[in-house]
Amino acid sequence: MAFNLDSVPSQKGRVAIATGANTGIGYETALGLVQTGMKVIMACRNLDKAKQAKKTILDQLPDADLDIIELDLSRLSSVRAFVDTYRQQFSRLDLLINNAGIMIPPYTKTEDGFESQMGVNHLGHFLLTALLLDLMPDTAEARVVALSSNAHKMGTINFDDLQSERKYSRFGAYAQSKLACLMFANELSRKLVAADRKTLSVCAHPGGSDTELSRHMSTTTVKFLKMTGLALITHSPANAALPTLYAALAPDVSGGDYFGPKGFLEMSGKPGKVSQSTSALNWDVAQQLWDASEDLTGVTNFCV
Ligand SMILES: NC(=O)c1ccc[n+]([C@@H]2O[C@H](COP(=O)([O-])OP(=O)(O)OC[C@H]3O[C@@H](n4cnc5c(N)ncnc54)[C@H](OP(=O)(O)O)[C@@H]3O)[C@@H](O)[C@H]2O)c1
Repeated sequence: MAFNLDSVPSQKGRVAIATGANTGIGYETALGLVQTGMKVIMACRNLDKAKQAKKTILDQLPDADLDIIELDLSRLSSVRAFVDTYRQQFSRLDLLINNAGIMIPPYTKTEDGFESQMGVNHLGHFLLTALLLDLMPDTAEARVVALSSNAHKMGTINFDDLQSERKYSRFGAYAQSKLACLMFANELSRKLVAADRKTLSVCAHPGGSDTELSRHMSTTTVKFLKMTGLALITHSPANAALPTLYAALAPDVSGGDYFGPKGFLEMSGKPGKVSQSTSALNWDVAQQLWDASEDLTGVTNFCV
């Protein structure tokens, strides 16, 4: 049966965190989750934008249960502060949606010295997950959902220059970071199974959608893509959020599953299970990436 939010039973009493929930796919994910009755914590770096997004949701759904907690994934200190605040207010977490992301910015480093896409897309979420996992119930309905991309298929994890210090390719670093998100989801799933925990780690990709993710593309490139008909094969942010919502809420989900749109080139279409690149399934590289991520973020006892 096709996935449909109307078929999801009430999620009242459950709590989700969605990173980057103030715009694009994260906003649509938060909107979908509150529609089911779930409480959603919008984990956002810009509080004004987050307040505006919350207001827009409340204008449509006055009963929506939404809170905002500041989170800047480009600063590990902010990730730790977010978790401290969250733990002061909540004693459980049912869904962690690691959605926030940046794509092809000029070379910059995060506060902790990571290449910004590796830092924000992967390492910030790695630390966030490590610090929250013990709050997640030991059930298959409790899920960590990572966001990858079709771009992961063009990525490699370059351990010789993980932070692209010697050579920076904007797209290469994006592809590497999105491959890292998927490999982290896979490896976390393996570790949860090995620890006999039922909590699921899964991954989704949205296909293609015209969001603020293109903010670092030149206007000429954006215009060119629109003229060449890209809009015809991509879909709205609301539809692009469906693979995430499927991974988060559908009953027929197992750890390590990867969801995306099933249409042409996986750019749009109904959500379902999709395949990963061979590189994403390289367990030796996944373990090496895990070890490197622990070292870089200072995680000593990831609780699995
Ligand atoms: N759109 C697509 O076609 C596409 C395709 C494949 C994969 N994806 C993935 O889908 C996810 C969502 O992308 P989107 O298209 O919705 O992009 P978007 O419209 O640009 O939204 C990205 C969100 O991430 C937030 N963010 C960026 N840097 C952050 C940081 N340092 N700390 C906390 N939050 C931060 C942004 O906050 P601000 O608003 O404050 O900047 C925004 O809320 C990303 O992981 C992306 O890689 C998207």
